[in-house]
Amino acid sequence: MLSFGIDIGGSGIKGAVVNLASGAFEGERLKIKTPQPATPEAVAETVAAIVEEKDWDGPVGITVPAVVRNQVIQSAANIDKSWIGVDAEELFGQHLGQRPFTVLNDADAAGLAEVAYGNQITRRGPVVFLTLGTGIGSALFINGQLYPNSELGHITVGKKSAEKQASSAVRERKELSYEQWVERLNRVLAEYEKLFSPAAFVIGGGISRKFDKWGHYLDVETPVLPAQLRNTAGIVGAAMAVEDGLRP
Ligand code: BGC
Repeated sequence: MLSFGIDIGGSGIKGAVVNLASGAFEGERLKIKTPQPATPEAVAETVAAIVEEKDWDGPVGITVPAVVRNQVIQSAANIDKSWIGVDAEELFGQHLGQRPFTVLNDADAAGLAEVAYGNQITRRGPVVFLTLGTGIGSALFINGQLYPNSELGHITVGKKSAEKQASSAVRERKELSYEQWVERLNRVLAEYEKLFSPAAFVIGGGISRKFDKWGHYLDVETPVLPAQLRNTAGIVGAAMAVEDGLRP
């Protein structure tokens, strides 16, 4: 069974046909630079262009780096502020025609893909999935079922939000060594541990690829594992969500 996923990010908008039997892309992924300013209208046009270019006429799942409630965008931490209050059903409906589509949070999508095709530990008990990138995205799971829009990146740890201290972008901006950065991540994970007592943390996002460089600095009690799915996760999760009829 094939589906289509699109991942809207700060620098690129990426889409691919996904084979839901394997969780792999069917053919090439297409990436178009995120228009600047990344207004809802400009982004929706790019989404439609990707779908058209890929010659896809079925359902489409779309991720956004924001809270999505009843298909309405509720936040805009690392995206254009004009997204707040946008009715995604209306916006994408105007560009994608009559086909079914759904919009969901990017970390929720990536987590769903990890549960389905990645580390099996995510399928049992309480698990906190995190993506470390420009911000910190999160997805909460209990026995593989998603509780959407958890936004753990915005929990205050000490004086600042978790993502302002320990995202991968902060590491780059402040030129922190892995050891210095993980010191911050440890404080963030310790807070999440206190709040949620998960069975495991699973970490995705670009920096999870370098887990062997920084994993040994972690010192929380909960096991921390790198996600098995890499940069395909958002697209795959979006494709799954629309097929499953998930409409957060
Ligand atoms: C946003 C989340 C998003 C995360 C990762 C955060 O700043 O609030 O909605 O999942 O970044 O993109």
